[in-house]
Amino acid sequence: MCGVVGYTGTKQASEWLLDGLQTLEYRGYDSAGIQVVSSSGNLHGVKCAGRVATLRERAHSANPVGTCGIGHTRWATHGAPTDGNAHPHLDGSGRIAVVHNGIIENYQKLKRELMAAGHTFLSDTDTEVIPHLIQEAWDGPAKGDLAAAVRNATDRLEGSWALAVICADCPGTLVVTRNGSPLVVASTPDGAYAASDVMPLASVTSHVLQLNDRDIATLTPDGAIRITDRDGRVVDHPTAIDIDWDASAAKLGGYSDFMAKEISEQPEAIERLLSGRLGKHGIELDELSLTREELASVDKVVIIACGTSYHVGLIAKAAIERWARVPVSVEYASEFNYTEEYLVTDHTMCVVITQSGETADTLTAARRMKGMGCNVFAITNVLGSTAARESDGTLYIQAGPEVAVASTKAYTAQMVGSYLLALRLALANGNMSRDEVEKHYRDLTQIPDIMREVLARRWQDKQAARLFRNQRSALFLGRNCNSTTAYEGALKLKEISYLHAEAYPAGEMKHGPIALIEGSFPVVAVVPADHVHDKTVSNIQECLARGAVVIGVATDGDERVAKLCSEVLWVPPVADELIFPAVAIIHLQLLARYVARDRGYDVDKPRNLAKSVTVE
Ligand code: G6P
Repeated sequence: MCGVVGYTGTKQASEWLLDGLQTLEYRGYDSAGIQVVSSSGNLHGVKCAGRVATLRERAHSANPVGTCGIGHTRWATHGAPTDGNAHPHLDGSGRIAVVHNGIIENYQKLKRELMAAGHTFLSDTDTEVIPHLIQEAWDGPAKGDLAAAVRNATDRLEGSWALAVICADCPGTLVVTRNGSPLVVASTPDGAYAASDVMPLASVTSHVLQLNDRDIATLTPDGAIRITDRDGRVVDHPTAIDIDWDASAAKLGGYSDFMAKEISEQPEAIERLLSGRLGKHGIELDELSLTREELASVDKVVIIACGTSYHVGLIAKAAIERWARVPVSVEYASEFNYTEEYLVTDHTMCVVITQSGETADTLTAARRMKGMGCNVFAITNVLGSTAARESDGTLYIQAGPEVAVASTKAYTAQMVGSYLLALRLALANGNMSRDEVEKHYRDLTQIPDIMREVLARRWQDKQAARLFRNQRSALFLGRNCNSTTAYEGALKLKEISYLHAEAYPAGEMKHGPIALIEGSFPVVAVVPADHVHDKTVSNIQECLARGAVVIGVATDGDERVAKLCSEVLWVPPVADELIFPAVAIIHLQLLARYVARDRGYDVDKPRNLAKSVTVE
C-alpha cells in the first residue's frame, strides 16, 4: 500500500509534499517522512512513526529547505512502524534518498549480496536495498546519470514498486518509476509532480500522465518530464488522464469525516451513473468491448473481487442470474489465484469489481482470466487505474474520490453499475424485452430519492447504535440478496468499530451462530417485505427466544417487525427486491459509523487497514 509523492520546481517542496501525503494517507498511515534537496546539494529529511499530522509538526520545527523532494506515508509490510523503518531510506553515503510503495520479493538475497560488498543497513525494510543498488549503479555503470542508475537498480528487483528518488549530487532532478504499483506524474508551470494517484495532483493540475510498468520518468524544475522505457527509449505518447472532478471533491467540505461525507454523496453518485444510460439500444453500455452477438453468447460470468467489492459481486450474481439468466460464479481474487483448476467455457465473461482498480489480488486474477481467453470487464471508480487499463472494457462508476478506508459510495455505485451490465446482457441474449429492461431501468432511477429518505432517517441509526454499548460481538442476518446486505453491514461494523461482527444467511443461523446468543446480544436482521419475509421473521423469533436484542432493517409499515424489534431502521418500499440492498445498506453504514464514533475511533482510518491493497 503506502503513498508516494515527489516534487521539483520553483517552490519550497515540503509544504506540497506534506499536503500530498495527507491526501494519500488513506493508503497507509502508520509512519511518514519527507526528504528534500537544496540547490546546493544538501539533503534534509524528517520522518517518524505515526500520522502525517505528526510529521507536519516535526517538519515545521525542522524546516527542511529545498525545492525538490520526495515523501511517503507507510502501511508496514517489512519491519514494524518505527521511526527507523519509515521512508525515505538512504544509501550508505547519504546522498541518494528513496521512497517506495510495493514489496521487493528478492530483497533478502540482494541485501546479503550488498552486505557482502560492504553496505550497511539501518532498517528492517525491503526498501532499503534500493538506494544501495542505485548507489552502486551511480558510482559504476550509470556514471552519474540518475535515471540510468534507477534503471540499472530496478533491473535487479523482483516484486512491485512505485519509486521516487532524489540525489544530492543532482539537486532538482527527481526520478520516478513503477512496476505493478500505481504512479502518475504531472507537468505544471511551477514544476513537475509525482504521486501514487491523481488525488494530490488535483489541486495543481487537471491533466496527469500515467506511467507504464518499468517506464522511468525524469522530472526537472522547469516542469519538464522525460519518460523512457525499460530499454532507455523515449516514450513519446504516455497515457494522459484528465481529472474530471474538482480538488474540493477530495476535501471534507464541512463534514466531520470522509465517511460521513461519502455516505451522504450516494444519491448523487447513483444519479450520475444512471444518467443517459437509456438510449435507442436499450441500456447504453458502450464501455463493453463485446458486440451484441458476443454478449448474447456469454454462457458464464465469473466475478472477481475482494472485500466490499466482493459483496457487490454477490449482489451482481443475483441480478445477472435473475435478469439475464446466465450462471455466475463469484470468486475472492486471493482464493481464485491459487485454485489450480478453474473451469471456463469458450464464452465466459470475466467481471472484475474494484473500487481502486489497484488491488493486487484482483489484478492478478484478471490477468489470469485474460490468459484463459476471457473478455475482462472492469467496474471501478478510478479512471486510468491498472484494472481499467488492462481490461477489455471498463465501466467507470463516477462516484468521485472515496477517501475513507471503509468503502460506502463505491459499494452502492458498483452495485448499480453491475445492474446496468445485467440489464444489458438480458437485452442482448433475449431474456428481457426492451420494455422490460426500460421498466427495470426506471426502477433503478428511484434509488437516489429512496437513499435521500434513508439518509434523512439517520437518527434511527444513532439511536440503534446505543444497543452496541458494552457489547463485544454482534450477529447480522439476512436472506437471499440481503444476506449480502448482512455481510456488508457486519464488515462495516468490524472495520471501523473493532467489534466482532458475524454475518450469516438467516436460515443458516441454526447451524452454529445461534450458540452465540445470550441476554442482550445484538442481532441485526435485514428483513424487507420480500418473498422470504416470513422466514426471516421466524429467525428473529428464534433470536428473541434466546434473549437477543434485535435491530430490524425493514420496509415502512411492517407492524410485525416493529413489535418484535428493539429498534427498526426503516426503509421506504422499493419497486424491486434487488433495490433494497442498494438503499438499506446506508442504514448499516451509518450504524457502523455511529457505533465507532461512540467508541471514540477514527472512522476514516481504522487500524491495520488500508484503502488500496497493492500487496498480495
Ligand atoms: C481494502 C479496503 C476495502 C476494499 C478492498 C477491495 O481492503 O479497505 O474497503 O473493499 O480493499 O478494494 P477494491 O479497491 O479492489 O475495491
